[in-house]
Amino acid sequence: MIFESHAHYESERFDPDREQLLASMKENGIGTIINVGSSVESCKETVKLMETYDFIYGALGVHPSDISGLNEESLKWIEEMAAHPKTVAVGEIGLDYYWEKDPEIRKQQKYWFRRQLELAERTGLPVIIHSRDAAQDTMEIMKEASQKGIRGVIHCYSYSEEMALEYVKMGYYIGVGGVVTFKNARKLKEAVEAIPAEKILLETDCPYMAPEPYRGKRNSSLYLPLVAEKIGELKGLSREAVISITTENATRLFRKAGAAES
Ligand code: NI
Repeated sequence: MIFESHAHYESERFDPDREQLLASMKENGIGTIINVGSSVESCKETVKLMETYDFIYGALGVHPSDISGLNEESLKWIEEMAAHPKTVAVGEIGLDYYWEKDPEIRKQQKYWFRRQLELAERTGLPVIIHSRDAAQDTMEIMKEASQKGIRGVIHCYSYSEEMALEYVKMGYYIGVGGVVTFKNARKLKEAVEAIPAEKILLETDCPYMAPEPYRGKRNSSLYLPLVAEKIGELKGLSREAVISITTENATRLFRKAGAAES
């Protein structure tokens, strides 16, 4: 069974058919899903989803582009909810300099990134990292985090092969999704070839990032076999082997989801 490590099923793009779609996951080989919060509002929706579906777990955290909704009170709520038996990670958190050019706001992104890493350290949960056009600052902050024993995944990985190897050395996992099937994704393919399969997590980031031949359309966990197939091609593994290795990887990282499964 596939372990989907990054989905946003609270998105309004699933409003027309969310229930039917989620009901079809198990029969299509999707065993476990982590729904990932990105704003305070979507974290609340994530809690509803994880309390409704036995195979859905939650990651709670605020995305760098949504930090305007973050304050001491909402951070405290996230920390309280981190104790929920189905909250398996803090995320998605990180830095996004692609969408944010203002140096003052970038500073705020770093501030709230660090505050949420501290929360992860206190609660013992792994982190799900979003990082776009912020390679150096993310690397610096994640180095400090690894020294504090914080575990996690660099989601939708988009940097160099060298940097992927550095993250792996620090114990982090690399999240790989639909982008790996794109023709122009040479850098990501090289990174996937370079890192051990034991450090890769399967993810969609749905509704975004649909793999070929659905690029540009609404994504869902049902397309993950296409991603596993591509990773298998790059690593000389069968699709089935990629699915079983990445499920083991995710169960190792997201301990609270693993414990509930076995
Ligand atoms: Ni995401």
